[in-house]
Amino acid sequence: MQILVTGGAGFIGSAFVRMVLAETGDQVTNLDKLTYAGNLENLRAVEGNPRYRFVQGDICDEKLVNALLAEAKPDAIVHFAAESHVDRSIDDPAAVIETNLRGTSVLLKVAKAAGTAKFVHVSTDEVYGSLEAPLVATEEFLLNPSSPYSASKAGSDLLARSYFVTFKMPVVITRASNNYGPYQYPEKLIPLMTAHALEDRRLPVYGDGQQVRDWLYVDDHCRAILAVLQKGRVGEIYNIGGNCSLPNLDVVRRLLAATGKPESLIEYVKDRPGHDRRYALSSDKLHRETGWLPLVGFETGLAQTIDWYRANPVWLANLRKRADYQQFMERQYGNRAASR
Ligand code: NAD
Ligand code: TYD
Repeated sequence: MQILVTGGAGFIGSAFVRMVLAETGDQVTNLDKLTYAGNLENLRAVEGNPRYRFVQGDICDEKLVNALLAEAKPDAIVHFAAESHVDRSIDDPAAVIETNLRGTSVLLKVAKAAGTAKFVHVSTDEVYGSLEAPLVATEEFLLNPSSPYSASKAGSDLLARSYFVTFKMPVVITRASNNYGPYQYPEKLIPLMTAHALEDRRLPVYGDGQQVRDWLYVDDHCRAILAVLQKGRVGEIYNIGGNCSLPNLDVVRRLLAATGKPESLIEYVKDRPGHDRRYALSSDKLHRETGWLPLVGFETGLAQTIDWYRANPVWLANLRKRADYQQFMERQYGNRAASR
């Protein structure tokens, strides 16, 4: 099979590319714009692989996407490319609208014209919004997004679904919970806290730290997407959860324990505006239809993640040298700490 992956230089996309090349005989073309979050160092392991090809480009560029699909003739598209960070979307919503909404619409339009046999749209549990306990979202749940990021993802989900309903295009939508693992950009909770703990810097917990997320190890997510690619029914939505709901403060405490650092490093900072209190989802449908289950428990996954960041200081240092990283961190944490 020839797979076109979008956003394959990011955190989850690169894990998916590495997994497909290692575990299947499939060919991969990776279309990525290389935004601040795209990093070819994530793909060093597959660089020389004859079944892999990288194309730098923007999914919003219809001409480029058209030419690529005409030439590569993929059997499937797995669409990861997105602006993926809630805080950045609050800072400046324009980018999530452009890439997540318009970019997805370009990709759908071109894939429809090309007759692509399967289109997996990678989405998030954040589209369901914040759920009061004990509610758990199934795939039929109301979409109730809170941030510009999750609203743009919900919009792109609906657009993807409309291509199935209107044009009978073979679209499948996945909605995963919070991912963690190696190569995650250090703006998200676990890599940021890991890096800070290893360096004895303060760990900035938003608000009271009681917000609950469901944690999914990145390789479990990638295996779920492979299962959906192979066995998922077109027109369907599949939730993908890690079966591991934890308040942020618990995550941070476990991380401190695992790195042997004191809880005095925790610093409570100003909360995120519109901060969702709790995400929770059921992946029963995916399990029933494909047999998929998450295999990596949180303790193991967290230990592997910490080990990876400990072993890869150069990867982190190279990211941190970039002006974009420094400016964003200053805006985010400079302000938060100052206005505590
Ligand atoms: P990421 O930010 O690490 O990577 C995004 C990638 O997309 C980068 O390589 C970037 O260069 C690329 N990209 C951005 N805009 C592009 C454009 N216009 N054209 C081409 N490429 C572009 O994101 P991630 O965490 O790997 O998330 C991947 C996907 O999974 C996203 O769609 C996200 O919404 C979804 N998701 C993420 C999580 C999570 O916890 N990270 C959970 C559920 C779903
Ligand atoms: P994040 O990794 O940004 O994922 P999302 O907002 O998409 O769930 O954040 C996970 C949780 O951690 C969220 O409740 C916000 C919180 N958080 C902090 O408390 N401090 C931080 O520095 C970051 C980045 C996140």
